[in-house]
Amino acid sequence: MNVFVLKDEAAIGKVVGDLFCDKVLQKPNAVLGLATGATPLPTYQRMAKRCKAREVSFKGVTTFNLDEYCDLPVEHPNSYRSFMRAELFDNIDIDLQNTHFLDGNTADEFAQCAAFDALIEEKGGIDLQLLGIGRNGHIGFNEPANAFTDGTFKVELTPSTIAANSIYFTDVPMPRYAMTMGVGSILRAKEIVLVATGSAKAEAVKAMVEGAIDPQCPASALQKHENVAIYLDPAAAALLSR
Ligand code: GLP
Repeated sequence: MNVFVLKDEAAIGKVVGDLFCDKVLQKPNAVLGLATGATPLPTYQRMAKRCKAREVSFKGVTTFNLDEYCDLPVEHPNSYRSFMRAELFDNIDIDLQNTHFLDGNTADEFAQCAAFDALIEEKGGIDLQLLGIGRNGHIGFNEPANAFTDGTFKVELTPSTIAANSIYFTDVPMPRYAMTMGVGSILRAKEIVLVATGSAKAEAVKAMVEGAIDPQCPASALQKHENVAIYLDPAAAALLSR
């Protein structure tokens, strides 16, 4: 794991946004793994800015989003599909047909999860995966558990995640279940960039970087991957010993 501490979230957004743009410049048909939450917003703003300036085009890019809520209409503003349109896809020149999401309202979750993993493989695998981290160390929606997950699956969210994400739900109750790429699916990405900002993430960051590889901190599985970069602000890095 390569850990970088930058001065603030704007500096991280610029560097990580540029990493994604550079990947697309090198490989115009790159497969990108994308994440939701507040943390990636500066990264997405940087990508949109460079696309608007015609420095990079996402026309040939394919994306896969990590996760999606269950039992929430896709057109609801809190669905991750809506989030990605508002925060990135409507601001760049990507072809929406090449953006892939899990369907949290599927009648056949097992078939859909298998199809999602198969489609990632068919597209050649994820070249660069963006991740945030939950306060409890989750990545995607892989919650602390007794064993690491592998492929895409349906998960029951933990009270910590429900408390953290409930603030975004004002008109409907926060969903209790989600579909998510598993830890194994995430580790199959060729390159991974994780971003964490703010003191609420400091404990999870310490467990991820300096703790044992333990499914109680799902992000600690990233220690097993050979190409991971972690970008932190000083508050998220505050508990690291080196
Ligand atoms: C959600 C998402 C994660 C994200 C996490 C942190 O639970 N499923 O992918 O990393 O929230 O979100 P935030 O960046 O808003 O703290």
